[in-house]
Amino acid sequence: MGDRSSNVIVRPHTGACGATVTGVDLVDLDEADFAVVLEAWHVHGVVVFSGQHLDEAAQVAFSRRLGALENTNLRERDHGARPTTLTLANINRRGELVSDPEHKLNQFLRGNQDWHSDSSFKRISAKASMLAALQVPELGGETEFTDLRAAYDALDEATRVRLDGLVAVHSAAYSQNQAMPAVPLRSEEEQNLPPVTQPLVRVHEPTGRRSLFIGRHARVVVGLDEAESRVLLDGLLDAACRPPRVYTHRWRAGDAVLWDNRCMVHRGRAWDTSQARVMRRTTVAGDAPDGDTNEWAMTDR
Ligand code: OGA
Ligand code: MN
Repeated sequence: MGDRSSNVIVRPHTGACGATVTGVDLVDLDEADFAVVLEAWHVHGVVVFSGQHLDEAAQVAFSRRLGALENTNLRERDHGARPTTLTLANINRRGELVSDPEHKLNQFLRGNQDWHSDSSFKRISAKASMLAALQVPELGGETEFTDLRAAYDALDEATRVRLDGLVAVHSAAYSQNQAMPAVPLRSEEEQNLPPVTQPLVRVHEPTGRRSLFIGRHARVVVGLDEAESRVLLDGLLDAACRPPRVYTHRWRAGDAVLWDNRCMVHRGRAWDTSQARVMRRTTVAGDAPDGDTNEWAMTDR
């Protein structure tokens, strides 16, 4: 092709994690520009693209460049009816606004308002997530991100030594019950999602940096009781999620934000549910180690 010169600009956020990328059209991104975006995503953990207005097919196509999509439908693990995108919206199936903050749907969405890494409750947790804003409220509804590599770097030596080798049990049933105790997970879903263990510290492969791996799905640290676990896990998360490691994204319709679940946690912020908030998420499955496969990876589409 011709000698198309690149207009990509990566601007790291000052006083916060992440970067904003301009000069890209995500539906028409050549290999050279994609490499710049990929590098920015690896280094900064979360990258922001404004004015993209991606349709579903375009969001899926871009996300697929990072790897196989993850099956995020907990009810249907079999092939066939699996969706490739997840709609997070206070809108019901009939397209009506669900404004009651205590409606089951809004309770479910509120679970996302605690810091987490997507799918950390899966044996091989998600690599990337991309959220696209379709409709946003006038106030609130921001999404915040924290870089847990920077949080690990900020730990004192005694804490690093203490964390070395520790693993936590992550459970979707636990975190969902915390968010909506009146509506427990269906038993078959629970069976599909047995608790898994994840190290408290992992190496972020693309950069080789160590990162904490914690969040709302982490229930207990193996070898500690529930109370000791809460003190440790909540203490780490609370210390981590502070400036300058946090970026608050104030959404405009058409924005797309891509983050790395291997080294970041994120949370949504509250908004007035009498206003619609409609977001579309794609999730890229985690890479399986050599000789293994990720049972949640949708390699067929
Ligand atoms: C998500 C998520 C928070 C938000 O899409 O995974 O946690 O602000 N979203 O909608
Ligand atoms: Mn999430």
